Amino acid sequence: MTIQYQHAFRKYVSDTEEWCLSVLTDSEGYSVDWLENVRFVLELAQGYEENEEILEEDILTIQTCMERLEHSFCPEVERQKQSARVPIGQHKLPPLPYRYNALEPYIATKIMELHHQKHHKSYVDGLNKAEKKMQEARETENFDLIKHWEREAAFHGSGHYLHTMFWENMSPNGGGQPRGRLAQQIVQDFGSFDKFKKHFSAAADKVEGVGWALLVWSPRAHRLEILQTEKQQLFTQWDTIPLLGLDVWEHAYYLQYQNDRKTYINNWWNIVNWRDVEDRYQKAAMVKWKAY
Ligand SMILES: [Fe+2]
Repeated sequence: MTIQYQHAFRKYVSDTEEWCLSVLTDSEGYSVDWLENVRFVLELAQGYEENEEILEEDILTIQTCMERLEHSFCPEVERQKQSARVPIGQHKLPPLPYRYNALEPYIATKIMELHHQKHHKSYVDGLNKAEKKMQEARETENFDLIKHWEREAAFHGSGHYLHTMFWENMSPNGGGQPRGRLAQQIVQDFGSFDKFKKHFSAAADKVEGVGWALLVWSPRAHRLEILQTEKQQLFTQWDTIPLLGLDVWEHAYYLQYQNDRKTYINNWWNIVNWRDVEDRYQKAAMVKWKAY
């Protein structure tokens, strides 16, 4: 088997794995039996991935399973799932779309475990609490502490939403450059991919203290922009849609990189999941307010 085939087979297996994980991550609305089959395909793919060589018959087995999954899939359930809303105070920590060690050597397993299980979890808990307290304030008409809970909702809410995007923004099969319409838009708005990357890296490096660098789509200017956030609730342009975020809080890199944020940023480009960013862009670009 040529190396070229092996590469394509590995890509197919890891794409399948990624898809299974994304379904299992957000499994509400799917039938138990169907999810059980997805789990079976995931285990199959993970097993093949560990083998030294992936055979053509392995790929055919996965394809047959995937076809079966497609045939037993109920689109109505999917539609209901898409329109589902999160009730007040019931946000959940989304599972990582890959294993904790999947982004090694660029991001250490320990960082991913702490970052996801401790930091992100505390944002989810904090947001749920703030939402419930604000609901309580509406019901009792006692707004004495509303300023505090609004701040908590902004801080923990931004933390929850940005981290949820951040996990999807990265992939063990990431790196390289975006393609398609996003690639064209980057060239149009920043001059070239290289110019965009340098600007984004500098913005991430210069975030004062803790915060994020974000690539956003502005539905008002019909352009992409790069923004910094200090902490995560300040410096926000409220009607922009984040597409790509880089977490430069110390908890995201300090265990592995100490104060060398620059190296963390440089290495991070190797795991950017451009397919996810492209998907977010395609959807965000449909939102266009009247231009001013
Ligand atoms: Fe973080």
